[in-house]
Amino acid sequence: MKPRLIVTRRWPAAVEKILAERFDTTLNASDVPLTPDQMKAAFADYDAVLPTVSDKLPASVFPDAGSRAKLIGNFGVGFSHIDTNAARERGIVVTNTPGVLTDCTADIAMSLLLSVARRAGEGERQLRAGEWTGWCPTHMIGTKVTGKTLGIIGMGRIGKATAKRAHFGFDMDIVFFNRSRVADAEVEAMGATQLATIEEVMARSDFVSLHCPGGAENRHLINAARLAAMKPSAFLINTARGDVVDQEALVDVLERRAIAGAGLDVFDGEPAVPERLKRLENAVLLPHLGSATEETRVAMGMKVVDNVTAFFAGKEVPDRVA
Ligand code: DGY
Repeated sequence: MKPRLIVTRRWPAAVEKILAERFDTTLNASDVPLTPDQMKAAFADYDAVLPTVSDKLPASVFPDAGSRAKLIGNFGVGFSHIDTNAARERGIVVTNTPGVLTDCTADIAMSLLLSVARRAGEGERQLRAGEWTGWCPTHMIGTKVTGKTLGIIGMGRIGKATAKRAHFGFDMDIVFFNRSRVADAEVEAMGATQLATIEEVMARSDFVSLHCPGGAENRHLINAARLAAMKPSAFLINTARGDVVDQEALVDVLERRAIAGAGLDVFDGEPAVPERLKRLENAVLLPHLGSATEETRVAMGMKVVDNVTAFFAGKEVPDRVA
């Protein structure tokens, strides 16, 4: 008998097709997220649950005793929406999809950085509203990007890919904070400087880009005190997770223009976005588009296929996180 899988949202058609061929797969044609009760039932009814970032898997959705599901094959690299301790305690393996979304997420970080610095969102809104009265020397003056300093918080794959784009494409100096020492050839080639504290990165940078995981460990890592360390002319970019930033504190500094602006692809409690944030012209806001390209979403799905296939063949899963 083929293993029974449940896919919690619509996935790229090519990936759904392979899953349906190889396994006894329940797809979610309606794309409506599962309720907590449905998620709980999935652990009893299926051999593997294939969720994504928009699902919530706290301890309360895991069965109290003996789960039929022995694998959570997450579609996405971030897995802070899954209580991995609860999974581990029940002998459930958790996998993710690293590597394949590095470039596209770094591209979105750069898009946000350029858009907020050059006021692209504001400009587009003005033009579409019919309010543009023509070119003049003082119209919608932004901030030059080339040659400025970019601070990276979290120098993993995506942090490095963003830094490379900024350094080699825009001549930017790179400083960064990372918990462990990072001293490889890529970092050396960029002449990137690892600083001892987040505060130093915040204070030295013209742009700060966040690339650390979300979840309890990094919740509100960027708090009011750290935001206060930024230059008034600096910008914050977040393509990591919304909960890494104290969103209230960020709205406060943006409203007061205590920093110049923010480019955000992720939000605490998304898809809800505070009205105060939406009202701000100095914030560029995207609906979590980091990995949203055809190539990347298919590659993410194929990574899940590889993990699920290896798991049910009794082999080591390539991308185990718990
Ligand atoms: C991930 O994979 O964690 C991303 O945030 C989804 O784009």
